[in-house]
Amino acid sequence: MNIHTYEKLWLVAAMLLIVTFIATITYGSVGLGIAMVGDQQPTVEPTELSDDERFGDPRVEQVGENEYEAYVVAQTFRYQPDPIEVPENSQVTFYVTARDVIHSFSIVGTNVNTMAIPGEIAEMTVEFDEVGEYGVVCNEYCGPGHHDMEGELHVVPAEEFDLVDHSVDTPTEVEPDDEAEFTVEIRNRQLDDLETTVVLEVGDETLEEELVVAGGETSETTIGVDAADLGEGDHDWTITVDEFEETGTLSVVDPDAEDDDRGDDDE
Ligand code: CUA
Repeated sequence: MNIHTYEKLWLVAAMLLIVTFIATITYGSVGLGIAMVGDQQPTVEPTELSDDERFGDPRVEQVGENEYEAYVVAQTFRYQPDPIEVPENSQVTFYVTARDVIHSFSIVGTNVNTMAIPGEIAEMTVEFDEVGEYGVVCNEYCGPGHHDMEGELHVVPAEEFDLVDHSVDTPTEVEPDDEAEFTVEIRNRQLDDLETTVVLEVGDETLEEELVVAGGETSETTIGVDAADLGEGDHDWTITVDEFEETGTLSVVDPDAEDDDRGDDDE
């Protein structure tokens, strides 16, 4: 069979093009790590997100030495959490869903870009090597506030990165016969256990309580102080847990004493 020279050239050119296309796709996925947004996650009930184990509390959590998971909820017209904070040299898997209507989750300046669809969970794994700040924008029209819908992603130095949350619950006023209960709740979103000491300074007293919070868990401790030991009046207190510090004032008030001021009703 005789094939015309031009026909041969076109055939070779077409073959080369096909090989080039396959090579670019292979290079993109293997060399550059470009991947499709994963849609293998199970569906969620968008109206019941607050009860969902992952999306009830949008957050970043450590799952491996340099591996993290971020659970992100998009809603009119913001993202939770905001800002999203991850450390440098980390590999972060984002799970993104929407609470109300279709939004998107796009990290400006990167190729991270997915729709956020109520009921569906988009999954993407991204590596962040260097410290930086990125904007997060919504590029699906979602309502009158669409143009204002933005968030932030902070890639912070490893030593500044912190996955421990503290909350303090104390009374503001107690009676002299009571015990003032200072409760500190510590949430550990790291993989490793956290060993720490809660230090309470109130009046002349310094009280310490050791606490171990298992990885991924929340623990609390309560330090009781006899109000009688403090005496009536206002007492400044400070609670310190590692870098965390909170201060306040506790008043020890004798209700009977107030009655005395008004007259001798009791006698
Ligand atoms: Cu959300 Cu546009």
